[in-house]
Amino acid sequence: MVLQVKSDYIHMQPSTLASATAQAPSNIAFVKYWGKTDHDLTLPQNPSISMSLDSLYTTTTVTFSDSYTQDEVWIAAPNEPSQQVTGTKATRVIQQLDRIRQLNSESRRAKVESVNNFPSGVGIASSASAFAALTLATTTALNMTLTPTELSRLTRLGGSGSATRSIFGGYVEWLTGDDQSSVAQQLFPESYWQLSDVIAIISTAEKKVSSLEGHELAETSPFYQTRLTDLPRRLKVVRHALEQRDITLLGAELEPEALSLHTVAMTCVPPVFYPMTETFWLLDELRAWSKEGVEVYGTMDAGPNVHCICQKSDAEKIKEKLNQLPYVQQVLVAHAGGGARIV
Ligand code: PMV
Repeated sequence: MVLQVKSDYIHMQPSTLASATAQAPSNIAFVKYWGKTDHDLTLPQNPSISMSLDSLYTTTTVTFSDSYTQDEVWIAAPNEPSQQVTGTKATRVIQQLDRIRQLNSESRRAKVESVNNFPSGVGIASSASAFAALTLATTTALNMTLTPTELSRLTRLGGSGSATRSIFGGYVEWLTGDDQSSVAQQLFPESYWQLSDVIAIISTAEKKVSSLEGHELAETSPFYQTRLTDLPRRLKVVRHALEQRDITLLGAELEPEALSLHTVAMTCVPPVFYPMTETFWLLDELRAWSKEGVEVYGTMDAGPNVHCICQKSDAEKIKEKLNQLPYVQQVLVAHAGGGARIV
């Protein structure tokens, strides 16, 4: 007798599911990484120091199932429907899944569902929070127990260097080194000093040159070596300023540091222009406000928007002042916050 198996019975067979959800913060670098010693392993030319941001984060659920025939990546912005992404964005996520699957001899395909709590397309990079959340959710779904240090190394391999720092909360340094030693470490927890990042959105346009390309071009600038030569001094001052909770000392390094990165970018071959005219107008404005007594210091990532760093007690005042500038489209406020966690 031939046993007939009904096809809908087959579909009802329980598949082996493994799932986890993680949340990771975005961060703003006080001393930035720009340029790599190894592009495949994402090893940075210089150490960098950042602050993790409490109100800008990505929440990612990774689900492995026998029933999936291929990996899928879905991304949503707040109050917007989730969209399936393809192309380079999806490839980078799937490569990170592959890397982790390989460590665990895992063959199941996965569905990745990622939500940013900050509006998409406002010119704030979400790759730091996204890759940190992805790595934590994937390793947890597969029951891997990693220390935060191991997790930061694995996150680094995903290709978004700044994500390495987003594993930790508070004030974080990402070290140079080889594949094993180039990891992030917490310098001070967020409770040690409450600083704020009041972000002035000047442009919401997608950048024309990705930071991935920017890192590759860095060495073509005649000013790159000058930047690297000065960085050990700057790192020392920033570490000391954090330790002393000295906003004046810290602030004095922030704008020059951002301008040093952008000088390198603008003098690469071909040149890369991230700031806009309004970026420089705003930096002028911030210098004037500091002189008037509200200490606030500007810095930029690979984009035109200005991150205004100030004491938490001044954040609302700075937000009001920024909202009065005609070229500022939107203001977001974030404070020093915790690191990546399972939710
Ligand atoms: O995180 P990546 O690899 O996309 O590079 C971004 C680098 C900067 O944001 C410009 C600086 C930094 O250290 O965050």
